[in-house]
Amino acid sequence: MTLSQFWTMIFGKQIVWDERARGRDKLALRGGQRLRFSDTHLGLANLAQLLINALTGNWPTAGRPVTLTCFVGRVSLPSLAQSCSRKVRLERKPAQRRGGHVLRMTTKPTNPSGKMPLRWGGEAARIAVIPGDGIGKEVTPEAVKVLRAVTAPAKRPLEFVEFDWGADRYLKDGVSLPAGAVEMLRDEFDAILFGALGDPRVPSNQHAADILLGLRFKLDLYVNARPVELLHERLTPLRDRTEKDIQLMVFRENTEGLYVGVGGFFKKGTADEIAMQEDVNSRKGVERIIRYAYDYARQNGLKRVCMSDKSNAMTFAHDLWQRVFKEVKQEYPKIESRHLYIDTLCMEIVRDPSQFDVIVTCNLFGDIVSDLGAQLAGGLGLAPSGNIHPGRTSLFEPVHGSAPNIAGKGIANPFGSVLASAMMLDFLGWKPEAQVLREGVKAALKENFVTPDLGGVKQTVEVGDWLAKFADRVQ
Ligand code: NAD
Ligand code: IPM
Ligand code: MN
Repeated sequence: MTLSQFWTMIFGKQIVWDERARGRDKLALRGGQRLRFSDTHLGLANLAQLLINALTGNWPTAGRPVTLTCFVGRVSLPSLAQSCSRKVRLERKPAQRRGGHVLRMTTKPTNPSGKMPLRWGGEAARIAVIPGDGIGKEVTPEAVKVLRAVTAPAKRPLEFVEFDWGADRYLKDGVSLPAGAVEMLRDEFDAILFGALGDPRVPSNQHAADILLGLRFKLDLYVNARPVELLHERLTPLRDRTEKDIQLMVFRENTEGLYVGVGGFFKKGTADEIAMQEDVNSRKGVERIIRYAYDYARQNGLKRVCMSDKSNAMTFAHDLWQRVFKEVKQEYPKIESRHLYIDTLCMEIVRDPSQFDVIVTCNLFGDIVSDLGAQLAGGLGLAPSGNIHPGRTSLFEPVHGSAPNIAGKGIANPFGSVLASAMMLDFLGWKPEAQVLREGVKAALKENFVTPDLGGVKQTVEVGDWLAKFADRVQ
């Protein structure tokens, strides 16, 4: 295969190698068919990533060894090799042409079990299960039980692999997110089912920052989708509101903002102490979440998108949100666009939640507004969320935390985790099965087969068993 055939396969268009643009640390490609790469200098890591994707992922021969020989010009071979080394064995020999090398790349098997995730042509949808701490360890097994029941008759199985990352492990051997974990999840799993993290024995919450925020950032899960849906009218604390009034989706930016951990202390522990935490907003980051919200509205026949910020006070960070919003909304003339400051939004959601279909906001405000929304729909016990990067390994979890106040008592509500599992099934393309999970939760609510937070007397495991039986029955 020639290099231009190689690029053609990756991009689906004819790409020709631009010999003139060879450089020490960059490669440039010039595209045929008006696709021009001459001004897109691919860094070595990007090139390596493209090669890896082609060789192990999107390549039609995914999962089988592929050998590719290509001429790479004068790029720094050690750095290319380093970027590739985990996935690709490299051999090189000098090429005839001056300054060039011929690289032979052969994919290494990445997964000892030899199983590839579904989206790479594997047989099973591979789910990494991270129960975490506290009630995460109680609700997640119930969700897995229900998932097994609902997918049992399907031709394609779900495969679960559990990981013990959390406070116990962190306190025992100091490991929060183990080295190589991100790459493994990215390459060998379709999705992650996550419980919750947080333990009074780790007051710094360091393990949660490493694991949960680490996965959100490192897997680039830029969409945090948090639906607020009233499943039974008795659950809302709002007077005279029914299911039709409380149906909205909160899209929370999930990789930037005040969560990035840029900041520090000055003169810590003294009377003159200064503590700083930076709000980091990139043009790309803001644009992609706003655009995702509009695309979601359009695809689901929803008419209204509300962007919420605090641009009257945060005159730099949220000025960017304002400008991007004004630009992107022009592209969706059939959707009613609206802006509310976050304080007003909180007030309006409580006053009349029926005025919202889709809300899009920054990381911190999305965190806060999704708990507010959760309570309007019955509480944290039944609020689900999806941390998504379309087309990549994504993470699904209940909105609630580890709830140390009820952990170990067997009374945590598993609905949030089960509904997050339904979001995961939707993401994997198992729509009917996802619907069965939602119907199951609605049926349990109707029969009042619920945990104490919703006024019932049932235990976590009893509710899980009930939902699993429901799934069996409707199959
Ligand atoms: P929390 O969500 O754990 O609990 C808030 C309240 O809601 C508590 O009264 C709790 O009993 C109740 N609750 C939550 N989930 C419930 C369920 N499934 N069934 C019944 N009741 C439920 O929030 P918190 O108390 O502020 O935080 C506790 C710990 O969890 C902290 O360490 C926090 O950082 C962490 N946390 C983690 C996540 C996550 O991992 N995604 C999310 C939020 C909080
Ligand atoms: C959530 C949680 C997390 C967040 C915490 C545990 C860092 O509250 O998932 O909503 O703020 O994102
Ligand atoms: Mn939260």
